[in-house]
Amino acid sequence: MTTAAQSAVPDGMRADVELAQRGRSEMQFLQAMRAGLRPLQARLRDRLEKGDALAWDGTDIAGLRAAVDGELAEDADLGIIGAALRWNRSVLTPRAVDAFGERAEDLSAKAAPVDAEAITDRGEEAVPRYWRYEFHGTTGGWDGHEHMGFVHHELVYRYLLVPSFPGDIFGQRASVARLAPREDYTDICDLGCGTGQFTMKLAQTYPGARITGVDLSVSELRYAQRRAAEAGLEWDLLRAPAEDTGLAEGAFDLVTSFILLHEIPPHAIRKVFAEALRLLRPGGDLVFSDVAPYRLRSPYQAWHDDWDAENGHEPWWRTAATTDLAGIAREAGFTDVRQEALGKESYPWVTLARKPGQERL
Ligand SMILES: C[S@@+](CC[C@H](N)C(=O)[O-])C[C@H]1O[C@@H](n2cnc3c(N)ncnc32)[C@H](O)[C@@H]1O
Repeated sequence: MTTAAQSAVPDGMRADVELAQRGRSEMQFLQAMRAGLRPLQARLRDRLEKGDALAWDGTDIAGLRAAVDGELAEDADLGIIGAALRWNRSVLTPRAVDAFGERAEDLSAKAAPVDAEAITDRGEEAVPRYWRYEFHGTTGGWDGHEHMGFVHHELVYRYLLVPSFPGDIFGQRASVARLAPREDYTDICDLGCGTGQFTMKLAQTYPGARITGVDLSVSELRYAQRRAAEAGLEWDLLRAPAEDTGLAEGAFDLVTSFILLHEIPPHAIRKVFAEALRLLRPGGDLVFSDVAPYRLRSPYQAWHDDWDAENGHEPWWRTAATTDLAGIAREAGFTDVRQEALGKESYPWVTLARKPGQERL
């Protein structure tokens, strides 16, 4: 049926209008779907907390999963939550990517870098094989679309995560940025900087510092460049793996990362710590913030994190949430290693450390 509003649209523009409406209505549908699943999740939690399946010693996550998954094997609520996740991944997300593809020009106006030359690219050879996985069920992976960085870290954050996430995702980044022990950093390197959400908090907290952002995603870096330029800032942006940046040894007095470590396999986590040590000057600080360890979560939350990670295409969440990051930092050669939980249920979970040597620069 043609509505009055549609018939007012000239024929040549109808496809555009329909596409814009389709994109918007899909986002709205997804938002409503997530809200609609919340009572089901609350019922699940209630059911589990009344039973025995959540008995857990804080270490054997596979055992907890087996007990709870077994308990919920016939649970219709969990069935619907799982089906919604799969449907989102296999139907809605590819459709959204197509729609964004068709709107590439409009998106470019908002997402393209102001100065593409400001991004240095170490090239495809430097990209590790694991990075090409379709994280989070995102069609095509981190760079599945020219503007995936903008779509994933801006549109999805603004319209889906902010309304449905229980914490303040931007405020958390600011709190972590403020946690670094000094106020006078001059050279900061943010590993896995993405579109620069956390990098911007660093730039605002330490306005005197020169900022370098490293990421493997071209589309994320493109939007990071735009974010900096629109704020009147100049960042050095580099496409390279965090575990092998190629940047000069001892070039920084603060090296950071925000939710990078759970996106990479354990061997790469170790290399990232080693690379951070190499990049720091003696006395320099490390601040890495990531997902909460399962052992510090409530049993329900630990089960939920792990179930969600598996069903939401987070292949290394479990290893990150069960890995001793403080131990890895010490093995890498850091000193003064400490960890701090900033929010509810221990998220953000921050590992802080110092490179031995000269006390303060
Ligand atoms: C969850 S995002 C976080 C982005 C940003 N730190 C923030 O606060 O929004 C993780 C980022 O890590 C990047 N990434 C994943 N593996 C990487 C690696 N080995 N080296 C550099 N960046 C990586 C991804 O491209 C993505 O931009």
